[in-house]
Amino acid sequence: MIARETIDKVFETARVEEVIGDFVNLKKAGSNFKGLSPFADEKTPSFMVSPVKQIWKDFSTGKGGNAITFLMEHEHYSYPEAIRYLAKKYQIEIEETVQTDQEKKRFDERESLFLVSEYAKNYFTEILWNSEKGKAIGLTYFKERGFTEETIKKFELGYCTDEWSAFTDTALEKKYELEFLEGTGLTIVKENRKFDRFKGRVMFPIHSMSGRILGFGGRTLSSDKRAAKYLNSPESLIYHKSKILYGIYQAKQRIAKEDNCYLVEGYTDVISMWQSGIENVVASSGTALTPDQIRLINRLTNNITVLFDGDAAGIRASLRGIDLILEQGLNVKVVTFPEGEDPDSFAKSKTEEELKSYLEGNSQDFIQFKTSLLLEETKNDPIKRAGLIRDIVASISKIPNNIQKEIYVQECARIMNISESVLFNELSQILKRENKSSVVGPAIAKTPFTGVKKETKEAIKIDQLFQMEKKIIEILLLYGNQEVDFIDFTAETDDDGKKRIVKTNYTNEVCKEIYMHLQEDEIEFTNPVFLKIYYEIIHLLNQEEKISADLFTNHEDQEVAATVTDILMDEERYVLSNWEKHDIYVKNKESYLPKLVMDVLYNLRRLLIAEKIQALKSNLKNNQEEQQQAVEIDNSEMLESIRDYTALKQLLFEKLNRVI
Ligand code: CTP
Ligand code: MN
Repeated sequence: MIARETIDKVFETARVEEVIGDFVNLKKAGSNFKGLSPFADEKTPSFMVSPVKQIWKDFSTGKGGNAITFLMEHEHYSYPEAIRYLAKKYQIEIEETVQTDQEKKRFDERESLFLVSEYAKNYFTEILWNSEKGKAIGLTYFKERGFTEETIKKFELGYCTDEWSAFTDTALEKKYELEFLEGTGLTIVKENRKFDRFKGRVMFPIHSMSGRILGFGGRTLSSDKRAAKYLNSPESLIYHKSKILYGIYQAKQRIAKEDNCYLVEGYTDVISMWQSGIENVVASSGTALTPDQIRLINRLTNNITVLFDGDAAGIRASLRGIDLILEQGLNVKVVTFPEGEDPDSFAKSKTEEELKSYLEGNSQDFIQFKTSLLLEETKNDPIKRAGLIRDIVASISKIPNNIQKEIYVQECARIMNISESVLFNELSQILKRENKSSVVGPAIAKTPFTGVKKETKEAIKIDQLFQMEKKIIEILLLYGNQEVDFIDFTAETDDDGKKRIVKTNYTNEVCKEIYMHLQEDEIEFTNPVFLKIYYEIIHLLNQEEKISADLFTNHEDQEVAATVTDILMDEERYVLSNWEKHDIYVKNKESYLPKLVMDVLYNLRRLLIAEKIQALKSNLKNNQEEQQQAVEIDNSEMLESIRDYTALKQLLFEKLNRVI
């Protein structure tokens, strides 16, 4: 684990505009920066960074946060990965809080394996580009396969010369330890002799999601059928075949942006597709997808499109694996290629437009695809047909969402021309056997009908309340510590019983004023996040500490951090929209701060009072109904309350109009 001190140091040092500036082209806009959203395709900038507040907001997708959140959203780093990235960027030494010696040893070992792998990648690319053999053999091979220099660089392809231990010898000279060279499998040690595992192969480094080198695939250049075409790194502390996807590092942003991931079989399929403009593509490296790999994709998107080579046997073999994807709740589509073509060869023979339109035009929903495929095979064979139904329904049963299950049952019944109830029966049997769920059958029909009108009315009220609570939090965060001259009007009764309005002037800190008012009326926030923020602000107030927005944008509670970021950035929004027309005068909020504070407090009270009156009235109505049934109830107290509240409401209304 990363030590708390390191995390604090990272937070202190990292500048959000510098961190984001590495990924987004930012332009100065007033006291902020703006740029094109990295999360959406857009022509006018809706992405904003505030160096003062150290936060960012993307108005086109609603995302926002601090430097760490940006890295988590954009680079899809986990929290520790983001911290590590920043520590590296700002040359902050990472302290680890490692509990046991054993854990520490394991951690150090992993780091050493990463270091060796990184070195090896650099070594192999160096050989490819700058040595005679590398250029003549490796680079020539890649170019013959149609890879451009840009592509070769993007995927950091390399070459390992056809000598017994050229790589190992150089690495040892550079003081890399044999233990780790062997640990990564780059070096094979046999009876005290050392060999390069990838001798004479072109190299495909395999990156983690965050870009660290986990291992390699090496392709032989010899036509000797006895040599395995591809050789991969062996399992190690850092290389777990079942947890990696080739190309994920290069593809992740595109996958998230397109909200779809193309899945192919091999290294060269990924690279050719990428070169042809399809960048959201990864490979499972010749095996069926594992749950870990699916989870990796699922961090980026819910949609997978599987690309099948044009051979029927391959497709049959893959069908089972796809059930696993359905089970994880992802949507699966498939595209097949013409007989004898794989994505690599197909991409090369087509233009970018042709490829894209082929993929779009030929993608089919997986269940429908499977149904048609098997239907074709079992045309005139009733026994096989029964098996087919079971097979399809088994796939459907994997889908976690009940409504989706039902839609598929209907669709498949249509394709197979059989009744839905046959399929539903089969489905409930499978589910019963797997003891999964008893909710089978028309899920939609079971949803009880709800009175729409009442709901919308309720929703408006909730929304008003939400907006007001939000406003109060906003004022507290932005202006909480400011001293402001308030004016208040109170109703006083003269000696002769006459009411008159008295105006008073006083100075108070905004947060204290708000606290006083809310306290006085025992008003609580209804929104739990606002409530949490409010309590923390009050806590600061009690400790005589200043309210600082940083405390909240860097809050450990992600919901708090996100809410505060949102509030702060909405504040900045007008700068964005008026960027081109600088001279537009935007009224400074601080000049009417007293009114802002009073308005929101009075409005909140009015809403709460109106609610109270409403509740009393409906109580009264109930009572009256009961009275008609000859039950004696004393309503006078209630009537009095209503009168009082209505008067109060009127008073507030007057106050609202007076405070200008
Ligand atoms: N594979 C492997 N080991 C092998 C053969 C294949 O790990 N001995 C994996 C590789 O990831 C390979 C993928 O399975 O990319 C698909 O295999 P194949 O279709 O045979 O290779 P291609 O990607 O088509 O490679 P090439 O075009 O270079 O022949
Ligand atoms: Mn191939």
